[in-house]
Amino acid sequence: MPILNLSFEENYICKKNEMRIDVLTILPELLESPLNFSMLKRAQDKKLAEIYVHNIRDYSTDKHKSVDDYSFGGSAGMVMLIQPIEDLILKLKAERHYDEIIYMTPDAKVFNQREANRMSMYENIMILCGHYKGVDQRVRDNYITKEISIGDYVLTGGELAAAIVIDSIVRLIPGVLSDETSALTDSHQDGLLSPPVYTRPADYKGWKVPEVLLSGNDKKINEWRENMSLEITRRVRPDLLEEY
Ligand code: 6GU
Repeated sequence: MPILNLSFEENYICKKNEMRIDVLTILPELLESPLNFSMLKRAQDKKLAEIYVHNIRDYSTDKHKSVDDYSFGGSAGMVMLIQPIEDLILKLKAERHYDEIIYMTPDAKVFNQREANRMSMYENIMILCGHYKGVDQRVRDNYITKEISIGDYVLTGGELAAAIVIDSIVRLIPGVLSDETSALTDSHQDGLLSPPVYTRPADYKGWKVPEVLLSGNDKKINEWRENMSLEITRRVRPDLLEEY
């Protein structure tokens, strides 16, 4: 079972598990490259995450291997069938316990960093990607334990959204990121946006790095970073200051 009610830092110290993610989709090809490069590849190579992509069509029992049909009541767009999705969900559920069975859909609460932190503690999750006009409501009513949107706009399908959610969760699993890429200093991790960063040269054609960063005074540098974080958040995302 996941360890809940711990702060992110507490979780970071005591947690050891690897995570298994099963993605259910009618377009597995869309997920191939996002899941197999960079951090997500590293996490899987280090055995910190296992990600399996299942093609819903493989579970369709009718002779045309259908995955969708017309909507009752006659609204525009096709609806994903219960049968192949249910068979796949039941097969997976019989093999292990799932902490959540997630449905990716624009008509849900919007995902954020707090949610990513929470989900990075899970051991097994299933993610169902919606397409067309979505899945038959009865799948949602009977199997889905959590619904996620990634923002207030509409994508063709849940696959790209699932890749985004998976990336944000897996990089938080201890051992995936190195010290230099530590997630603790990310924008949003403390509810604020990150301060600006600079590298060499200190003067590029007259564009200078802020003096304080060259001072070697850690206290001053931290103060500067905190002030910049606040200032940028206030200017760009004032809504975040109310939220936390
Ligand atoms: Cl999760 N799915 C789709 N199709 N569109 C979205 C979304 C998800 N989140 C925002 N827009």
